[in-house]
Amino acid sequence: MSVMQQATSISSSGSGFLGQNTFFNTRYSSSTKELSIKVKTKNSGICKCVAATPPPPPPPNEKQQIAYKTNVSRNGNMAKLQAGYLFPEIARRRAAHMLKYPDANVIRLGIGDTTEPIPEFITSAMAKRAHELSTLEGYSGYGAEQGEKQLRAKIASTYYGGLGIEENDIFVSDGAKCDISRLQLLFGSNVTMAVQDPSYPAYVDSSVIMGQTGQFQTDVEKYGNIEYMRCTPENGFFPDLSKVSRTDVIFFCSPNNPTGSAATREQLTRLVQFAKKNGSIIVYDSAYGMYMTDDNPRSIFEIPGAKEVSMYMMNLFVFLLYFFLNFSILISKGLL
Ligand SMILES: Cc1ncc(COP(=O)(O)O)c(C=O)c1O
Repeated sequence: MSVMQQATSISSSGSGFLGQNTFFNTRYSSSTKELSIKVKTKNSGICKCVAATPPPPPPPNEKQQIAYKTNVSRNGNMAKLQAGYLFPEIARRRAAHMLKYPDANVIRLGIGDTTEPIPEFITSAMAKRAHELSTLEGYSGYGAEQGEKQLRAKIASTYYGGLGIEENDIFVSDGAKCDISRLQLLFGSNVTMAVQDPSYPAYVDSSVIMGQTGQFQTDVEKYGNIEYMRCTPENGFFPDLSKVSRTDVIFFCSPNNPTGSAATREQLTRLVQFAKKNGSIIVYDSAYGMYMTDDNPRSIFEIPGAKEVSMYMMNLFVFLLYFFLNFSILISKGLL
């Protein structure tokens, strides 16, 4: 993997927004093999990034036996993952780089982390509810599997009132990443999947772990049996669907992480028509939908007919951005 490829694969899958905004401005020099990143900050300037460690080793041969201390076999698909989950790998490389260059001014393009304390009105409500659980009157056993009825009703009426979404269509969960993995369990290993390229890494990694993919192909830096839908400035960060092969599942993230690009109503209409024609399911990840200020749809359910072919994930940590509190909702009109 070249320095350029490393830089691209890290930034293209990270949680920074690199696309249609002017916050970052990256430039690669093939002669010096350095990536310059211009960042708008108070002390705006250019910093030079170089890869900190050599590329990870190639995946083990399928027939290669790994010696375990017990006779319990493991999920062989895990070995296909290149370096474990991307974000710990970015953190490892950053730590290694800092060790080597302690004075380096490193811009973190890895996992987004929280930075501010949780507001008092939230923690006090949580503390109050926790305390109630230690009283006879306030104690309740297991909660409802789908999430508190009242909460689901409130989410349905507050956010999806006009879209025909009802409380029973909503599943409140502990996070979108967990939902992605649980959906993969539901689909099983025999489905094919398409993903935007670049995209948030959890779709591909969960697909690999489920055994839906082939091995990682180092020459093209892609897994076999995944349909990568290229999204570049040239195509307006929306895939050319005439070149996309049919798959069972289409993971689609809008606004996209990492490009930041949000699909238009017309583009989403084409995507829904494409899924309908192919009998596919769209898993629509709208983790950053609440940031949108333009007229593009926040939910794919705004597109006529989308409910017949789509599931929708929204991450409610957006309300609480920068605070460490997160839950997500999964909405499906009978597709689960
Ligand atoms: C596009 C996208 N989907 C899902 C997630 C994961 O969300 P959660 O923290 O709810 O697991 C993230 C987090 O960065 C994300 O960027």
